[in-house]
Amino acid sequence: MRVLVTGVMGQLGHDVVRHLSEHGIEHKGVDREDFDLGDAEAVMRAVQDYCPTVIVHCAAYTAVDRAESDMEACFRVNAQGTANMVRAALSVDAALVYISTDYVFGGEGEEAFETEDAKNPKNIYGLSKFQGELAVCHQMTKYFIVRTSWVYGVHGNNFVKTMLRLGSSRPQVNVVCDQIGSPTYSWDLAALVCRMIRTKKYGIYHATNEEFCSWAEFAAAIMEKAHLNCRVNPIPTSEYPTPAHRPCNSRLSKKSLDAAGFSRLPSWEDALDRYLRELSLEGMI
Ligand SMILES: NC(=O)c1ccc[n+]([C@@H]2O[C@H](COP(=O)([O-])OP(=O)(O)OC[C@H]3O[C@@H](n4cnc5c(N)ncnc54)[C@H](OP(=O)(O)O)[C@@H]3O)[C@@H](O)[C@H]2O)c1
Repeated sequence: MRVLVTGVMGQLGHDVVRHLSEHGIEHKGVDREDFDLGDAEAVMRAVQDYCPTVIVHCAAYTAVDRAESDMEACFRVNAQGTANMVRAALSVDAALVYISTDYVFGGEGEEAFETEDAKNPKNIYGLSKFQGELAVCHQMTKYFIVRTSWVYGVHGNNFVKTMLRLGSSRPQVNVVCDQIGSPTYSWDLAALVCRMIRTKKYGIYHATNEEFCSWAEFAAAIMEKAHLNCRVNPIPTSEYPTPAHRPCNSRLSKKSLDAAGFSRLPSWEDALDRYLRELSLEGMI
C-alpha cells in the first residue's frame, strides 16, 4: 500500500500521517505548498508522479463562516478540488477516502442522521462538501466517504484551544446550548481511517467520537478537565448570530460502521481526556 494524504498541515491530515508512520505504511503527506487543489493539472501531475494505491483526501476549505462571503474559493477547493482529485485517483486506479461533514444534513429533528438520509445543507461550506461527495460517489467505486463533526486535533486551531485560551483569561464565557452533536478527536478518526484503508469495505460512513453533547456541555467539560475557573453560560443560537447557519441537530448514526464491522470511536469525554494529556505533554497547556 502506498498512501497519499492531502491536508497534512491540517488537524486530521497530520494525525493520519502520524498513524501511517507508526504502522510503517509507505506514504506521502502534501498540502497547499505542494499543489493547489483547484489546479486540475497540478493535482493530476502530483498524483501520477507518486502513483498511490490510496488517497486520503483531508484537505478542504474549512472556514465555515468565511465561506458565506467567499463562496467561489470554497467551491473551488471543496467541490472542484475534490472532482480534480477524483479524476487523478481514477487515472492511477487509487481508492479515495473523502472526509465529509455533518453539515451536509439540514439539522432537522432530534434523531441521529443515517448515512442515506436526505441531504439539505444549510450553509455554503456544507453545500460545497456535499458537491464533493457527489463527485466521488458518481464517478468512483473504490471510495470511502467518511462524515465527521466538530473535529479538534493537536495540529491546528479548534474549539478546545479557543476554550482553553478564553478559560484562562476570563471568568465566564457564553456558549450555545441548542446545537447537539459529537466532538471528534482527529487522532481517533485518523486511526479509524487507517483501519478502513486496509480493507475493501468501500462505502459511506459516519465517524465521530461516541455520545452526544451541546457546545456548552463540551465547553464546560473542557473547563472542568483543564481545571479552569471559568463559568460556561449556556445561550441559544439566536443569541450568537454567525454568518453561516449551523444545524441544531448534528447527531450522526453509526449503523453503517457497525454493519461493516468497524469499531466505533471512544466516547468524546474519553477522547477529550487524552487530548488534554497530549497538549500537556507537548507543552501546549
Ligand atoms: N474541522 C471540523 O470541525 C470538521 C468537521 C467536519 C468535517 N471536517 C472535514 O474534515 C477534513 C479535515 O478537517 P481539518 O479540521 O483537519 O481541516 P484543517 O485543519 O482546516 O486543514 C485543512 C488543510 O487543507 C489545506 N487546504 C485548503 N485549501 C487548499 C488548497 N486549495 N490546496 C491545497 N490544500 C488546501 C489547508 O491549508 P491552509 O491552512 O493553507 O488553507 C489545511 O492545511 C476536511 O475535509 C473537513 O472538511 C472538518
